[in-house]
Amino acid sequence: MGSDPQNPAIPMAILFIFLLQFSLSVASTSLNEASDAVILQNQGGRKQREFDYFVLALQWPGTICKGTRHCCSSNACCNRSGGFSEFTIHGLWPDYNDGTWPSCCTGKEFDEKEIHTLLEPMKKYWSSLSCGSPSTCHGAKGSFWAHEWEKHGTCSSPVAHDEYGYFLTTLNVYFKYNVTKVLNEAGYVPSNTEKYPLGGIISAVENAFHATPLLVCSKGAVEELRLCFYKDFKPRDCVPTDSQNAIVSSKISCPKYVSLPSYEPGGKIFKFTDSNWQYPNA
Ligand SMILES: *[C@@H]1O[C@H](CO)[C@@H](O)[C@H](O)[C@H]1NC(C)=O
Ligand SMILES: *[C@@H]1O[C@H](CO)[C@@H](O)[C@H](O)[C@H]1NC(C)=O
Repeated sequence: MGSDPQNPAIPMAILFIFLLQFSLSVASTSLNEASDAVILQNQGGRKQREFDYFVLALQWPGTICKGTRHCCSSNACCNRSGGFSEFTIHGLWPDYNDGTWPSCCTGKEFDEKEIHTLLEPMKKYWSSLSCGSPSTCHGAKGSFWAHEWEKHGTCSSPVAHDEYGYFLTTLNVYFKYNVTKVLNEAGYVPSNTEKYPLGGIISAVENAFHATPLLVCSKGAVEELRLCFYKDFKPRDCVPTDSQNAIVSSKISCPKYVSLPSYEPGGKIFKFTDSNWQYPNA
């Protein structure tokens, strides 16, 4: 595995996205360097300095969907035809080296129309795995995508520019660094019986991308895998700093042996919280 894996089976639309992104990233490099000292200002007037690096947070549906108790149209765990076998996107988060992060950096509200050309890959690879409405930046609640854009995406503007740029950039990085592929090739395949050494999973990712990921577990099962990047999207180590340790050392830390459960669309145990919704193909 090289450090620059590309999927040969990427559909044309995504290839097009790659090309677009290439010009976008060339344009943003110089902008990036010039804007190191830029102070981003959020809604409340609180000054936030520009972030230091990116975290690409990926979620493992097999683990998250096990916790599903309610169904609704926005929860992809409830979709019987879904057949998740890959890590999906949680978000791309601009972070500071000290383990804190900026949030709600501009007043830009989420507008789905701006990303209508990205909806197909977004629905597939950036699905919401819950029925909740997470908070947005204006004391409101919104969709999963609205939350990710308003809380985190707006802080990436020195690099990703705008909402479209944020989602496009995130999809591109996700396609380029295919963690599922890396783990599968190292023998870490979804299973409801196997346990895998945490160190082996970390090494497989390190060998492929030359940077150390961060794993988050729930009851001994991998729930998230985070990859970290410099602002030019070269991989870098995810360094668990003190304030991250505060989170990571609690119940979300991973044991020495972890599981990677298979995705099982639930159904029997689900209650429907959205009366207008039915299982597709049920
Ligand atoms: C269910 O999954 C299928 C296949 O991935 C997808 O086309 C469809 O949009 C999904 N439906 C919902 C409600 O998420
Ligand atoms: C990642 O790799 C897996 C296994 O090779 C493949 O099935 C999947 O389509 C790839 N995902 C993306 C987003 O390219």
